[in-house]
Amino acid sequence: MQLLFKDIDEPGLNTLDVYAARGGYEMSERAVGIHPDTVLEELLASGVRGRGGAGFAMGKKASFLPKGEMDKFLVCNADESEPGTFKDRELMQKNPHLMIEGIIISAHAVGANNAFIYIRGEYDYVADILDAALSEAKAAGHVPEGLNLWLHRGAGAYICGEETALLDSLEGKRGNPRLKPPFPAVQGLYQGPTLINNVETLMNAPLIMRMGGAEFAKIGTETSTGTKVVSVSGCVQRPGNYEIVLGTPTREIIFDLAGGPPEGRTIKCFFPGGSSSPVLPGTDENLDLPYDFDALQKAGTMLGSGAIIVVDDSVPILDVCMKTAKFYRHESCGKCTPCREGTNWTVKMLERIERGEATPMDLDIMVSIQDQIIGNCLCVLGDAMAMPVASMIKHFRSEFEAHMEHMQLHTTDMSRGPHAGPYDLLEPVGVATPDLG
Ligand SMILES: Cc1cc2nc3c(=O)[nH]c(=O)nc-3n(C[C@H](O)[C@H](O)[C@H](O)COP(=O)(O)O)c2cc1C
Ligand code: SF4
Repeated sequence: MQLLFKDIDEPGLNTLDVYAARGGYEMSERAVGIHPDTVLEELLASGVRGRGGAGFAMGKKASFLPKGEMDKFLVCNADESEPGTFKDRELMQKNPHLMIEGIIISAHAVGANNAFIYIRGEYDYVADILDAALSEAKAAGHVPEGLNLWLHRGAGAYICGEETALLDSLEGKRGNPRLKPPFPAVQGLYQGPTLINNVETLMNAPLIMRMGGAEFAKIGTETSTGTKVVSVSGCVQRPGNYEIVLGTPTREIIFDLAGGPPEGRTIKCFFPGGSSSPVLPGTDENLDLPYDFDALQKAGTMLGSGAIIVVDDSVPILDVCMKTAKFYRHESCGKCTPCREGTNWTVKMLERIERGEATPMDLDIMVSIQDQIIGNCLCVLGDAMAMPVASMIKHFRSEFEAHMEHMQLHTTDMSRGPHAGPYDLLEPVGVATPDLG
């Protein structure tokens, strides 16, 4: 079933003419003509959950914003910085007006008079497409008079995808996460009530208005309604974005849509929801899991941003672990200790394992470091490293141990490690040798 990807490759869909000819902006016009609470009811009834990572119900979050006359904000999170995730890029590039229409409907539902699209700096060409679409929509009178709608280009930092860091960045400050509560719905941008949603989440609003929330809720599973655009990458023959009905078996996405691993290879493991999700080994049981929020959570991982990264049996797990840890170390904003220090420690320990200087006990220490990071950080960037790293040690401990053993057997100069044994002692400069005679 194609909802968001329906006609996605239609030439010119990014222009107002083609979009409007397909019924574009009919739903926003209908929405702004009815009471905001009625629109909110439809969003609530749809059960649509956030597509940016946390999977929180969109209508519920929107209902947390206070009612009444005051400045309210809607922010569309187009930062898309989670490794393996590239669905918002395609959606915005090919169908920018659907996102603008989704923003207009959602802003009306919560009474927001200001809306911002925060797009990552690296998506410069997509931002140009959005700019053009915004100008067309405004010139044609599709953006209601009471709604100020801006596009803001970020400077390119993973942490600016985290909703509160994004708000700081929008306000012109350094993008550091804020302490929650207060949550943005109550106190967000410029201290005002703010609804923040992902691009794909907001793009569902016009579809919900067209089919009605209750009909939308019939698609997918009871608790994961609708479709999901899944980015599939890594060791597959046909990487790309695929729209699936939530609850589709993961095997169908990896094999039928993305072509499975290269000829002769088997799946060692996969990240089901971007690089911050715990990996699952490529067993039949895991591949048969329905791709939905709750089934994946029950299996000890998460759907996250909906990005499957496949790792085949030719790839050493240590390399996957190192790459993951180094990314999060680099992107940590440094504001809180478990994340700042823990990501760095993890990389250093992985480097010791790589050089053959570690012992199996070090694996236990690494696991305990991850335990101390999880749940102890200001935002979940720390957890985003600790969860996949811990899962790799859990599922592939024997591969880490085999690497250590191999390195210890084949490294002849083990005593030259930084703490590995006595070096020749040098005479301290400027200290006279005592005359003991
Ligand atoms: C480190 C970090 C990075 C994030 N990056 C993104 C991102 O690039 N895009 C996004 O939509 N959500 C991202 N999120 C999730 C947002 O904080 C927030 O939950 C989301 O924008 C809410 O929208 P949704 O409810 O529609 O999913 C990130 C979260 C964290 C902790
Ligand atoms: S968890 Fe990491 S990224 Fe998040 S606030 Fe703490 S140091 Fe910054």
